[in-house]
Amino acid sequence: MASRLRWEQTENGGMTERAKVAVLISGTGSNMAALLYASRLPDAPFEIVLVASNNPEAPGLKLAEAEGIRTFAHPHKGLKRAEFDALIDEQIRSAAADYVALAGYMRLLSAEFVGRWTERMLNIHPSLLPKYKGLEPHRRALEAGDAHAGCSVHLVTPEVDDGPVLGQVEVAVLPGDTAETLAARVLIAEHQLYPRVLAQFVSRHQDAGWIEQHVDRLASGLPEVRRKTSHGSPGWSVGSEKGAKLFAILADRHHGEEAVGLLVKASGADEMTGLIEAQPDIYYWPEYYGASGWLGLKLNRPDVDWDQVNEWLERSWRACAPARLTRLIRASDEF
Ligand code: GRF
Repeated sequence: MASRLRWEQTENGGMTERAKVAVLISGTGSNMAALLYASRLPDAPFEIVLVASNNPEAPGLKLAEAEGIRTFAHPHKGLKRAEFDALIDEQIRSAAADYVALAGYMRLLSAEFVGRWTERMLNIHPSLLPKYKGLEPHRRALEAGDAHAGCSVHLVTPEVDDGPVLGQVEVAVLPGDTAETLAARVLIAEHQLYPRVLAQFVSRHQDAGWIEQHVDRLASGLPEVRRKTSHGSPGWSVGSEKGAKLFAILADRHHGEEAVGLLVKASGADEMTGLIEAQPDIYYWPEYYGASGWLGLKLNRPDVDWDQVNEWLERSWRACAPARLTRLIRASDEF
């Protein structure tokens, strides 16, 4: 898949990528405004490419327009849920957005729409999820006598306010608070939280810790794999404890290299040279490892093909696993 992210020249001459975000609102749009102004700070990793609404009267639309952001509004009345969502989806795609941020969007979403934006759609909810999903979270927090209310940003899944939580801020409940006074303070916290979490989320492909978790999930699915550090770098080995052989290493910007690279065993220098010449944005020669047969896959890119990474892990595992294990695998392949 080609990268859909735009590359921009920074002041210091470096290149940074900015993720394109579409924001969906139904009302005031203060969270949308928080995202928009955060996107205008130097080094913001995202830009707002569209503000869309199911309510043509939503005050947030005017603000977005005045700030030069493309807007789209269409009343949902008379349209089936999936039909309306398809209209919005069309707009989001024509604005070339990579992500969708729901910000006070008061429409339930169709399963089709949610499915199309899996892992790419975030929402903000004014409670400390999993508490008080749905309506009137502030009133419910007060009635429960909670000492703290708060807000959460989460990934959107088909169930309302249910996806994995990406970040939260607690807000103290004050004596005499009403749902309104509490909501106003929670909103201040929301405006801090949402831009921060969105920025982290769209930049996660640069985060060596996140990459390591991803690789670990794939590598530890292979037989007899254990973690093994190699010169301070995280690695994965195969075989019994004594004879365990490294088949993958994660090199985090080693010796000034730009890549957070996964090193795997290629068949030799010829294959490596061929791959690196043909696809230099994916493959590289890890200097530090010399001619030891380790091929580098660049993983700090927005469009990593994780199936391909998995194939390389399997291949490297096969090249390093003891015969008793590869025999088993070969037998099951033939089966
Ligand atoms: C916010 O409290 C948000 O968490 C909730 O709806 C409210 C929207 O406010 N989902 P605004 O339109 O962003 O000002």
